[in-house]
Amino acid sequence: WDNGLAKTPPMGWNSWNIFHENINETQIKQIADAMVSSGMKDAGYIYLNLDDNWMANPARDSNGFLISDPKRFPSGIKALADYVHAKGLKLGIYGDRGTMTCANVPQSGSKGYEDRDAKTFASWGIDYLKYDNCNIPNGSDMKTDYQKMQTALANCGRPIVFSICAWEYQNWMPATGNVWRTTRDIVDKWDATGHPYGFVGIINSIDQNSKYTNSAGPGAWNDPDMLEIGNGGCTTEEYRTQMSMWCMMASPLLAGNDIRNMTQATKDILMNREVIAVNQDPAGKQGYRVKSSNGNEVWVKPLADGTKAVALLNRNSSTSTIAVNWSDIGITGSAVVRDLWAKADKGTFNGSYSASVPSHGTVVLKISSGPVATPTPAQTPTPAPTPV
Ligand code: DGJ
Repeated sequence: WDNGLAKTPPMGWNSWNIFHENINETQIKQIADAMVSSGMKDAGYIYLNLDDNWMANPARDSNGFLISDPKRFPSGIKALADYVHAKGLKLGIYGDRGTMTCANVPQSGSKGYEDRDAKTFASWGIDYLKYDNCNIPNGSDMKTDYQKMQTALANCGRPIVFSICAWEYQNWMPATGNVWRTTRDIVDKWDATGHPYGFVGIINSIDQNSKYTNSAGPGAWNDPDMLEIGNGGCTTEEYRTQMSMWCMMASPLLAGNDIRNMTQATKDILMNREVIAVNQDPAGKQGYRVKSSNGNEVWVKPLADGTKAVALLNRNSSTSTIAVNWSDIGITGSAVVRDLWAKADKGTFNGSYSASVPSHGTVVLKISSGPVATPTPAQTPTPAPTPV
């Protein structure tokens, strides 16, 4: 949706993966504090997004306005937004296109209340709305419902990023939302094939999200759901793959862990500036797979400065050597390679580059072709021009 927002994929934190329905004001303020003190804010994670169950039960006052739970959010959402804004962060909230959110709280859905709820969110200072897809009355049309909220947001008087949470791609979504889910819910696993609700693991999300590469661009992003990095169900390599591939696919980077308490390994993954820069590249191109053989994959993402980000992804259960051929990524001649996880310049290579990639791991490279500037020796005085 070209509303001037989300020119690069949104970055922030969302409450669902770690806290589910158990959210409250004290804990969310601590998260806001931690976003600043941990360095997440400086790394670009700006949106603090409340997910389901922030509302009272029933969710509306006697005049039909949404209200927050008086016990868990006693100061109200406006006060929370003020707190979050004072830290230089933005506040996101959650709603639903049906009669109730997925938590089944009476009156919590926005069906028929789209304008009023968008104005309420604006009056509180909300910056991002995730709009879910539960409790849909018979006869509702998904596209119509999302477009109603889109119009309501456009008219609410405040810029609010619109996140469509409908668990599958439809072709009207890029013109309707700033981000849209391409998958059902993520679970903290590498592979969740066979999950009873069709929930997905990291590798399943990558496969589904990669089907819609051409729909992504500034203001409109495919969303394979929040990050699970740091939640404990996957290996460090698997989490590094989640970060690598969400960055390669220009996906929203919404951390889903308890950032009040992160290991160094989790911080190193979530806050790798060079990998984040691939995600936030202003060209806004979603990277795509150029080669796949025996579980070894090569992906490329063309960047605004003419260089390419390349991912070498190993789906196998043992280490593989994976090569990227320049011909597969549109480069001729020699090219300079930097490894973004190793934070190391690898040198200049002709024709291809290969690296050893651990099981379920991903190597991310930045590859620059063309003439390489010869460094000028420092302190060499320029000779004075000879008088003629
Ligand atoms: C379904 C969504 O897909 C999840 O991300 C989360 O928002 C839950 N609903 C909340 O009930």
